Amino acid sequence: MSPAFAQLDAGGRLRHFLTLDGLPRSLLESLLERAFSFASRPGRAATRGEALRGSTVVNLFAEPSTRTRASFELAAVRLGGDVLNFDNALSSRVKGETLLDTVHTLLAMQADYFVIRDAEAGVQELVAREVDSEAAVVSAGEAHLSHPTQGLLDAMTIREHKGDVGQLTIAIVGDIARSRVARSAHLALRTLDAREIRIVAPRAMMPEAAEFAGARRLESLDDGIAGADVVMMLRIQHERTGAAGPVDLAAYHREFGLTAARLKHAAPNAIVMHPGPMNRGVEIDSDVADGPQSVIRRQVANGVAVRMAVLQHLAEARRTRVG
Ligand code: CP
Repeated sequence: MSPAFAQLDAGGRLRHFLTLDGLPRSLLESLLERAFSFASRPGRAATRGEALRGSTVVNLFAEPSTRTRASFELAAVRLGGDVLNFDNALSSRVKGETLLDTVHTLLAMQADYFVIRDAEAGVQELVAREVDSEAAVVSAGEAHLSHPTQGLLDAMTIREHKGDVGQLTIAIVGDIARSRVARSAHLALRTLDAREIRIVAPRAMMPEAAEFAGARRLESLDDGIAGADVVMMLRIQHERTGAAGPVDLAAYHREFGLTAARLKHAAPNAIVMHPGPMNRGVEIDSDVADGPQSVIRRQVANGVAVRMAVLQHLAEARRTRVG
């Protein structure tokens, strides 16, 4: 997001939710508190609300998604809203209609929220500027740069299982250079004053030196997860490898795949996370992904709660500004 664009209003509430960058800790804490109030429990009916009654949420995804799109849809429905899952491939975009013409078409049908995932950087801000007073934009993943609701749900899941992140060592492992999940997790955990954040990757997958301020960089998996309280595994972003070409998956698994034997290097009660989708047998083995230390399915459940929290916050802020 460009520094000139303000996603917060004069009262410090979100007008849009495009990035965790620059958000004060108090706002993060307030969103996490809301999310915990929506957190589901196995066997119990999902918590519901009314904040979106009479509002329409449009899911505008130009990249594939299972978790993020489904959880935004469930979040909106559980808050009483209507949802339109816009199908890019079957839309008039393929006949040459521009993104902004598409957005205005949907605005004319009284869309109130645009949840946007796009491979191109800047698309969310472009739409937010265009619709600014009429609708709110929420990022569901921007290029390799940002996935703010994922960062929040990761922080929530860590806090749920391990308590105060100020006491924790957290290792983020894998294709860091191309990962929006890693960037947003790092921002969330830094804002919450995590004791130590490590980024662990082969040299070719390390980000530029200017990025991930304050994080330790390690190029060996065993060293990177040694004593860690949280081990967050990431998939290789094959769709963004570009000129670097395909990765040798067997070699990658040998060096950076999390096996049960390797997990023993982490703290004895460490949790294992993965944002999904997983590539089993590449970055993570099935006995770890499905094992007792895995909280991967809890991350998915918390994704709905976090998206409810964000949508509810935006709805309340909009009502106050309009009313
Ligand atoms: N974690 C995540 O963004 O998953 P999806 O791509 O399935 O939405």
